[in-house]
Amino acid sequence: MQIDHSTIAVVTGAASGIGRALAVRLAQAGARLAISDVNAEALAETARLAGALGVPVTTHQVDVADRERMAAFVQEVVAAHGGTHLLINNAGVALTGNADELSLEDIEWLMSINFWGVVHGVKLFLPVLQQQSAAHIVNISSIFGIIGMPGHTAYVASKFAVRGYTEALRHEMLMAGSPIRVSVVHPGGVKTAIARSAKPGAGAPSKSRETEIRNFEQAARTTPEAAAERIVRGILRNEDRILVGPDAWALERIQRWFPVRYWRLLGPLFERMTKE
Ligand SMILES: NC(=O)c1ccc[n+]([C@@H]2O[C@H](COP(=O)([O-])OP(=O)(O)OC[C@H]3O[C@@H](n4cnc5c(N)ncnc54)[C@H](O)[C@@H]3O)[C@@H](O)[C@H]2O)c1
Repeated sequence: MQIDHSTIAVVTGAASGIGRALAVRLAQAGARLAISDVNAEALAETARLAGALGVPVTTHQVDVADRERMAAFVQEVVAAHGGTHLLINNAGVALTGNADELSLEDIEWLMSINFWGVVHGVKLFLPVLQQQSAAHIVNISSIFGIIGMPGHTAYVASKFAVRGYTEALRHEMLMAGSPIRVSVVHPGGVKTAIARSAKPGAGAPSKSRETEIRNFEQAARTTPEAAAERIVRGILRNEDRILVGPDAWALERIQRWFPVRYWRLLGPLFERMTKE
């Protein structure tokens, strides 16, 4: 799809990182924006950055896990902008800890945001998107929606779920002859606050959390701005699968070559990288 002054774009989780960079990049393209986040203060700063580029921006304090609040958000967007063409379900959180360390409550919390947040966005905005002659849904998964990274079981499960949901949705749209395009995004490491804001699993030792943050900050090479640029290019080209960063590209290739046993190759590499 085209992105210009006639485009109305919705971005969730726009107060930080990739979401903020996407809002600014879309504003550069002239899009009118409805941005949301749980963090109203940081969201206002995104609105200031995007608004400085001369586009109308509305801000909405929304928890994507809250079904009723998400339904009200859709109504607010329609009232303020008259509809929407581009929906980017970006809001997400991380949770560290092995399967035996994470509590069921921690896993439910993560799924309520990373998986249900995406489902709420798609389900509740779909009737609005269906009114347009061209529209696009973009769901942010992760490279951990392609490979099963140990120490991140719940996060990996949520991101595989986003990928599965999005791919099936795309096929439904194709079969229905719908003008709605659907992309799933798999970023590799992007330098954002995500690791530092991650919730440590109740039973996960704090030492591994500090190591986790350090490892992430060393490994994440892509800037949020470069990630946003790549995602927007993918939207303009109608790419089904948008890989962000050379790490994502390489890991996806390895998973394709060794679809089941890729960890035999990656395991020793990651073990060396993540030594305490
Ligand atoms: N940074 C990476 O390396 C990386 C890699 C792969 C995928 N991702 C995905 O990219 C997306 C953006 O992450 P980021 O790295 O920019 O992280 P970030 O922590 O910088 O930004 C995430 C934003 O989501 C918001 N948020 C958290 N919970 C929310 C909720 N319940 N409702 C609404 N907003 C909420 C936060 O307040 C924050 O502003 C996430 O879905 C993440 O899983 C990130």
